[in-house]
Amino acid sequence: MNWCAVFVFCCFWVLAEVDGSSRRRLRHDPCDPGVQRRPESLRPDQMTVLINGYSEHRIPLLLSVAAAYSASPVVAAVLVLWGNLGTPPRLLSELSRNLSAASLGAARISLVPQSSGSLNARFLPRPLAIETRAVLVCDDDVEVDAKSVEFAFRVWGSNPDRMVGMFGRSHDMDLARKEWIYTVHPDRYSIVLTKFMLLKTQYLFGYSCGGGVAGARMRRVVDEMSNCEDILMNFVVADEINAGPVLVGAKRVRDYGDPRNDGGSSEDRDEVRDAGLSRRRGEHRKRRGQCIREFHKAMGRMPLRYSYGKMVNSVGEQGLCNKGGQLVLCDQFLD
Ligand SMILES: *[C@@H]1O[C@H](CO)[C@@H](O)[C@H](O)[C@H]1NC(C)=O
Repeated sequence: MNWCAVFVFCCFWVLAEVDGSSRRRLRHDPCDPGVQRRPESLRPDQMTVLINGYSEHRIPLLLSVAAAYSASPVVAAVLVLWGNLGTPPRLLSELSRNLSAASLGAARISLVPQSSGSLNARFLPRPLAIETRAVLVCDDDVEVDAKSVEFAFRVWGSNPDRMVGMFGRSHDMDLARKEWIYTVHPDRYSIVLTKFMLLKTQYLFGYSCGGGVAGARMRRVVDEMSNCEDILMNFVVADEINAGPVLVGAKRVRDYGDPRNDGGSSEDRDEVRDAGLSRRRGEHRKRRGQCIREFHKAMGRMPLRYSYGKMVNSVGEQGLCNKGGQLVLCDQFLD
């Protein structure tokens, strides 16, 4: 064997080792307490955006949504969680290149192919990638204006235990049937959707790893229903803090309408209202109601709490809250 062959052999050996150890790291149990970061070590002044991506034909929209978040001064990094396991690797590497190009001069955008099709994977704690105290979980088809994103982050900053959202839904008791249902109330809400959900990074660990036997049972419900991971996160947080979420208003939202998240609120924009869609919406609500009943059964209690009103950013930096039609200072309003 000549020296050149030895050298080439060594290079391959080193590469294989590096590859093997990074794969071992990826296969690391995401719930291992040893790999979690201490909350105090995370940066409080910016957030990490976790965008769910699935649909190949929505990639142009995904690119523009990701680029808009990456340009925000309150965003440290953007992770695009790609949940479609059937997407060809060639398309994924092209997307990855385009995402990097879209983040030039702004916060880094990374493509993270999910290793399973489970909806629970969007809430996996990612201690290697998330360096901020807050995460914004959102979808690839909702565009929120930059000022409203910053406003929402400020609202979270003064209520770091609460979840902050822009789309509210409710649980309720159907008195005739004596069962929990999923619905929309005009004046109150107990659930925020993952179209825009801002929360403490620690809750990812609580969702994915907490709750013991009941927690595992609830995550199984999400897999069986292929739905409701957002509702479960609302259960997890409300159960921990005994308080509902905080809704903020956006100046401009463009919601390109994922029917999976569509609870049928009159606030939702750009909705096509045809008979087919509203029947699907009825089915969708029933399935979401079933999730609430299953979660309630597993937990043995109903942790969801109602919140009222919506924070709006109408007068410059001053946060004002709409309380029953009257604007009041949010400080006087939140608790
Ligand atoms: C990537 O960008 C190129 C150039 O704009 C475009 O033609 C292509 O369709 C994009 N592909 C993906 C997967 O984003």
